[in-house]
Amino acid sequence: MPIQVKPAAAVLGAEIQGADLTRPLDAATIGQIRAAFYQYEVIYFRGQMLTDEDHIRFSAHFGELRKLKIGTQPHETHPEIFVISNIKKDGKHIGSYDAGIFWHTDGAYLPNPHAVSALRALQVPVVDGRTLGDTNFASVSAAYEALPQAMKKRLVGLKAVQSILHRLSQTVESGIKKDYSAAVKADPEAIHPVVRVHPVNQRKCLYVTEGYTSRILGIPEDESRDLIRELTAHCVKPEFTYLHHWQQHDLVVWDDCSTQHKATFDYPAHAPRLMHRTTVVSKQ
Ligand code: SIN
Repeated sequence: MPIQVKPAAAVLGAEIQGADLTRPLDAATIGQIRAAFYQYEVIYFRGQMLTDEDHIRFSAHFGELRKLKIGTQPHETHPEIFVISNIKKDGKHIGSYDAGIFWHTDGAYLPNPHAVSALRALQVPVVDGRTLGDTNFASVSAAYEALPQAMKKRLVGLKAVQSILHRLSQTVESGIKKDYSAAVKADPEAIHPVVRVHPVNQRKCLYVTEGYTSRILGIPEDESRDLIRELTAHCVKPEFTYLHHWQQHDLVVWDDCSTQHKATFDYPAHAPRLMHRTTVVSKQ
């Protein structure tokens, strides 16, 4: 049976119904899901009681998965899974707990940034009957399209530094103490075009984020700062966004080239949030 695709917001986001991700999918269904993904940029599936193996198998339909080093932040037995959680075990966080403090796209500071991320809600934080910890997504392909012609022209050929140190300074400012030394040592920054051409659908995408973009090259420093501020504010205008209200057993898959995201850090320590994320490595 064909899947159903239900658009969820003006320019991005769609719910996919009629697919059971606990089973291997046939080629036709995978083709329909991939087509919906590259059209809507963020797709989600409700009520998927996935194992980690199901999650990994499904994500791999989008490309090669990044494997993390055991002992850094990933899952204890599956290096493809990055754990995001505010839960502590023996006094230590079991995963990354600072998701949600700035707009970003995953792995932008790497030479080959993430292409696709798939985030699964194992536990969602509930306070007084309300589920918290929404994730907001913005379409940077729609944001690029909406730019005035003069700005599109100004951005031609520009490149920017994407830096984990930039993220680190914001993390410190926000009062969250976290050890990023391994990431800083490994791959602290990379240079990418300010406008990337999507490798699958060739849409032009603004690749400038509050979280990682520290400097636009080839222009004076104050101009770079103002341009980053202008573009990042433009990208996350409400008309380009989709806010995902999580339910337990959701799987949300997003395009890291054509979207940015920001989790809402509005839940207290006593309301556990546990998410598992896989990421597909970009070929660019
Ligand atoms: C992320 O920033 O990759 C995770 C978003 C979330 O936890 O909702």
